[in-house]
Amino acid sequence: MDDALPLLDVKDVAFSVGDRQLLRPVSLQLHEGDCVLLTGPSGSGKSTLLKIIASLLTPTSGQLIFRNSDITTLKAEAYRQQVSYCFQTPQLFGQTVYDNLALPWQIRRQKPQQEKLVAHLESVNLSPDMLNKSIEQLSGGEKQRVGLLRNLQFMPQILLLDEVTSALDEENKLAVLSLINRIAAEEKVVVVRISHDVNDIQQAEQVLRLEPPEKENARESA
Ligand SMILES: Nc1ncnc2c1ncn2[C@@H]1O[C@H](COP(=O)(O)OP(=O)(O)O)[C@@H](O)[C@H]1O
Ligand SMILES: [Mg+2]
Repeated sequence: MDDALPLLDVKDVAFSVGDRQLLRPVSLQLHEGDCVLLTGPSGSGKSTLLKIIASLLTPTSGQLIFRNSDITTLKAEAYRQQVSYCFQTPQLFGQTVYDNLALPWQIRRQKPQQEKLVAHLESVNLSPDMLNKSIEQLSGGEKQRVGLLRNLQFMPQILLLDEVTSALDEENKLAVLSLINRIAAEEKVVVVRISHDVNDIQQAEQVLRLEPPEKENARESA
């Protein structure tokens, strides 16, 4: 039993569109130091759950309590700086890699620190030259790492990672996983990560497996 107040308490959260349930009710408590691996078949609602936790989607039932406050009472921008979602398909914008990494600084009215940007790139096997590269010239794996680094310019308290290593080869996957593990350990960031990888699942401290919604849905759409 853990009596400490959770950082985030996800209580019976579910999501439907019309009659169709996309996420069955799920409860989860996140405490400082937690590292949770989220898995389950395709269509079981994993991405939906992370988007709900990130407050990018509003659940159709249930409640999220962040540090003792219902998140519907918190300012969305401030909450999203603390609970940060990294998309499965990176959503880059602007022209260059620099534009993407500089944005979190600009939002906070700060000047990007060049040496930090370079160090971040190097930590995931990307060269400093990358900064001026057009985002249209990036491979899928490069985009994924740039998207992840954008979320890590300022550390959130909870980092939600949606299959962020799925487009990476083994070497780059290991670099990203080692960065994530370092952040969890040194920066005390709570990490919830979606993965199907059997090795990841075996090594995870905590595993949450989602089951797909009831079969009625399948029958309806058949
Ligand atoms: N905006 C949406 N509107 C309707 N259906 C959606 C929407 N987003 C996702 N879905 C459906 O919701 C279900 C769960 O999706 P998702 O959370 O992406 O699952 P997972 O990440 O586990 O593969 C899927 O059946 C998907 O097709
Ligand atoms: Mg998904």
